[in-house]
Amino acid sequence: MQQINGNFYKKSIISIDQFDVHDIEIAFSLADSYRKDLGKGTVFHDLEGKILTALFYEPSSRTFGSHIAAMQRLGGSTIPIQGVTFSSVSKGETLEDTIRVFASYSDVIALRHPDEGASEIASTYSPIPIINAGDGIGEHPTQALLDLFTIKSRLGRTDNISVAMVGDLKYGRTVHSLAKLLSLYKNITLHFVCPKTSPMPTDIVSLIAKRGVVTKTASSINDIINKVDVLYMTRVQKERMDLKLYESIKDLFILDAKLADQMKKKSVIMHPLPRIHEITKEVDDNPRAVYFTDQVKNGMFIRMALLKMVLTKR
Ligand code: NCD
Repeated sequence: MQQINGNFYKKSIISIDQFDVHDIEIAFSLADSYRKDLGKGTVFHDLEGKILTALFYEPSSRTFGSHIAAMQRLGGSTIPIQGVTFSSVSKGETLEDTIRVFASYSDVIALRHPDEGASEIASTYSPIPIINAGDGIGEHPTQALLDLFTIKSRLGRTDNISVAMVGDLKYGRTVHSLAKLLSLYKNITLHFVCPKTSPMPTDIVSLIAKRGVVTKTASSINDIINKVDVLYMTRVQKERMDLKLYESIKDLFILDAKLADQMKKKSVIMHPLPRIHEITKEVDDNPRAVYFTDQVKNGMFIRMALLKMVLTKR
């Protein structure tokens, strides 16, 4: 996996491990300028003539839609492929063939795949950049970037933040990438609130602890609700466990309006979506809730920035 090192051109984006704080600032500053310019009604031509293949082997609406919107907003076009049925690609053969074909048609591929590591494997034989749009229980780097961009926009900082990650921390890939991303900053505390069967993977916990993140576990949202700057809710990943286990843990951690009201005034409630029932509907109107507003919009701006940078020289 290539480090970004200040230069995104022709690089695949596979994991948060490729980024340092400087790379993140570059991406955020471009995303921010797209956000401002689009707000003024600018029509962009940055990627005219370029084609994105959005190759999604797992269900998705937001991540899929936002990659397509990002490419089209920049004047590029898209080959949208969703709901592909496939046989196991653990040997890489089927995926390899597919990637080869679409690399001949397009300039960049956003890949979502049920196998952890699939994007990294694809990037080793793809002649064009791969953007990991979620690889099984592995990572979701573009989501983590849009999450941190949202946190920065709302709180005005990336250091000195206390975050609670709630839900399925084992199978949810967004929290894996976000925990690693936050660990690049100073004075970060992470509270894990999760079923015993779904803890944050130990390799991630030890990596971020080594980088100075204070990690704590709590047994309920109540215990941390008035302490945190960010409450990051996630759904239980039903499709990645047996039904019996799912039924036994799906209702353990639910954020309702009464709980949400106990949060610090200047704090944010986030969710990568889809929300199932872990946040009740009344919370949507809470001014701290950003999951249907800033987070969704910022996803497109971050993906615009990444597409522009992997496809053009600075
Ligand atoms: C997440 C994902 O696919 O990992 N959704 C998303 O990309 N917006 C979260 C989830 O599916 O729970």
